[in-house]
Amino acid sequence: MCRLELTGLEKTYGNKKHTKRAVQSLTAGFDHGVYGLLGENGAGKTTLMRMIVGILKPTQGQITCDGIPIGQLGGAYRNLLGYLPQEFGYYKEFSAVRFLNYIAALKAIEPHTAKERIAHLLETVGLSEDAGRKLKTYSGGMLRRIGIAQALLNDPEILILDEPTAGLDPRERVRFRNIISALGKDRIVILSTHIVSDVEYIADQIMIMKQGQLIRSGTPAQILEPVAGCVWNCIVPAQTADGLEAAYAVSNLRNYNGDDHREQVELRIVSGEKPHPDAAAVEPVLEDAYLYYIEKAIEEDSNETVQDRTI
Ligand SMILES: Nc1ncnc2c1ncn2[C@@H]1O[C@H](COP(=O)(O)OP(=O)(O)OP(=O)(O)O)[C@@H](O)[C@H]1O
Ligand SMILES: [Mg+2]
Repeated sequence: MCRLELTGLEKTYGNKKHTKRAVQSLTAGFDHGVYGLLGENGAGKTTLMRMIVGILKPTQGQITCDGIPIGQLGGAYRNLLGYLPQEFGYYKEFSAVRFLNYIAALKAIEPHTAKERIAHLLETVGLSEDAGRKLKTYSGGMLRRIGIAQALLNDPEILILDEPTAGLDPRERVRFRNIISALGKDRIVILSTHIVSDVEYIADQIMIMKQGQLIRSGTPAQILEPVAGCVWNCIVPAQTADGLEAAYAVSNLRNYNGDDHREQVELRIVSGEKPHPDAAAVEPVLEDAYLYYIEKAIEEDSNETVQDRTI
């Protein structure tokens, strides 16, 4: 098992006129286990993953595997990696089994070993019966599963999955969670997602990114702890709900007709203070915590901007 270390990692895109700091001074370490990388669109997840797999060179900072910079390790490092890119390219006319054989050849896996592994992986991702079908006839979810299978072909010690659950239906999501949590036992699995519930039960560590920065990381329990006492449930008439929605971070909302047939709204609010006299404190879940840290980062940002202005 190996240890991956990111130190002061930065990536800036663009030229002198127009630059974008996609990843900023990011420091993190990875041992075996499942790491859930959460962040909204443009947070820098793909950029970070592309640097970890060595496709993209950091503008600054360093990535080491067992203390050695990955650039020095070259092919030895690549052999440790499995990667599912966000935009996963495949040959439409290939059958699943032909495609996996092709990737196995690119990874220089012996044909005999490849045959066995492919059969096993198709079983794992539940596609054995569809193995002979052309990929152009596959659904989005099936393609995602083939993407996961190709990333696992070389039995990688470091598995990087960029939005692996995009397009999966609820049943496939459950299957996916089971596959991933089993894989994390003896390797590093880093997966990015927008869907908090996909990592809620399987991630050993949660990493939250916003605007290129790692704003929070820790075990799910550590992530949830500061949010205890900050999540509220309240049921109010529709007009009151509008005001609450404008004033507070709302993690869930449900409209329904009350016993008196008047429109009621049930809100789940993340707030340090009690948002409404009828609000009741409830146990936080990861989704609430995610919202809490994102909102906190926005507040801190705007405070800094105000200070900048007054200086
Ligand atoms: N090749 C590029 N050139 C310039 N800017 C880029 C490039 N790739 C990404 N960016 C910018 O860098 C930032 C981070 O992008 P990135 O794709 O890493 O985010 P992400 O968290 O993966 O987003 P998503 O959830 O949408 O996949 C964004 O502002 C994006 O517009
Ligand atoms: Mg992305």
